[in-house]
Amino acid sequence: MSDRYCVFGHPVGHSRSPRIHALFAEQCGQAMTYEAIEAPREDFAGAWHAFVAAGGCGANVTVPFKEEGYRVADVLSQRARRAGAVNTLIHGRDGRTYADTTDGVGLVRDLEAHGVTLDGARILVLGAGGAVRGVLDPLLAAGPQSLHIANRTAEKAVSLAADFHPQERGQHQTRVTGSGYDALEGPFDVVINGTSASLGGELPPLPETLLAADGVAYDMMYAADPTVFLQWASARGARTIDGLGMLVEQAAESFFLWRHVRPDTAPVRDTLRREL
Ligand code: ATR
Repeated sequence: MSDRYCVFGHPVGHSRSPRIHALFAEQCGQAMTYEAIEAPREDFAGAWHAFVAAGGCGANVTVPFKEEGYRVADVLSQRARRAGAVNTLIHGRDGRTYADTTDGVGLVRDLEAHGVTLDGARILVLGAGGAVRGVLDPLLAAGPQSLHIANRTAEKAVSLAADFHPQERGQHQTRVTGSGYDALEGPFDVVINGTSASLGGELPPLPETLLAADGVAYDMMYAADPTVFLQWASARGARTIDGLGMLVEQAAESFFLWRHVRPDTAPVRDTLRREL
């Protein structure tokens, strides 16, 4: 019998995760199934425990259950604890629920796959919501010179920065700061859009001085056409990357946590790009 996995969301019909994990399973010869389950908003824990009772081995957790996933976990990884949310659940042999978050690793791996150097870079992150909190630990572990968080509600950026500052890594210390958009100057080497503004076709107010000459603009969102943020950056000469690769890389890390096998992500990313 195949091992069972799923993604929980609400809604979940749009999720690309079943497709990605089917491609990984086929590529790696893994006997597993992966389905999308729309859990009731008010009882995520019940949905997870019912899935496990029916033979479920692990799950991805997407909006709006990432914090709920955190709460059902018996054992949290350190990065999940820092993120305050999880995207991967594992039903352990001991019956306990283990949880991790792979979004930040996915982001860093995708930046690396595109040849972007984070070590020593001046990074700007736009947004201070759950999506941004979830990626800060791996970004900081990559050793940037500085990391600034800008957000429409400035206090949220300041408070999030304070949670992650100071960040020690060997002899090196990264400055982590936060502000509103009005105080933003630049130049930055890497600018990552982690706001949900792109969803509504909106753009935070950004100064012309934002990007360094060879700057990279990354949007954690993806769509068939470039997001407004990537269009803005592209018009100013920046290299632009959307979040499709991050989606595939975070899935690959979840797959590894469950199956202990690392899929080759590049062909899967290419397939998904063609299917957009
Ligand atoms: P997520 O889980 O996607 O991070 P969230 O926690 O609701 O969702 O955070 C959404 C982020 O997008 C926030 O940083 C929000 O800014 P505020 O904290 O000021 O609300 C940001 N955001 C959403 N729409 C925006 C817009 N039109 N312009 C600028 N920022 C926006």
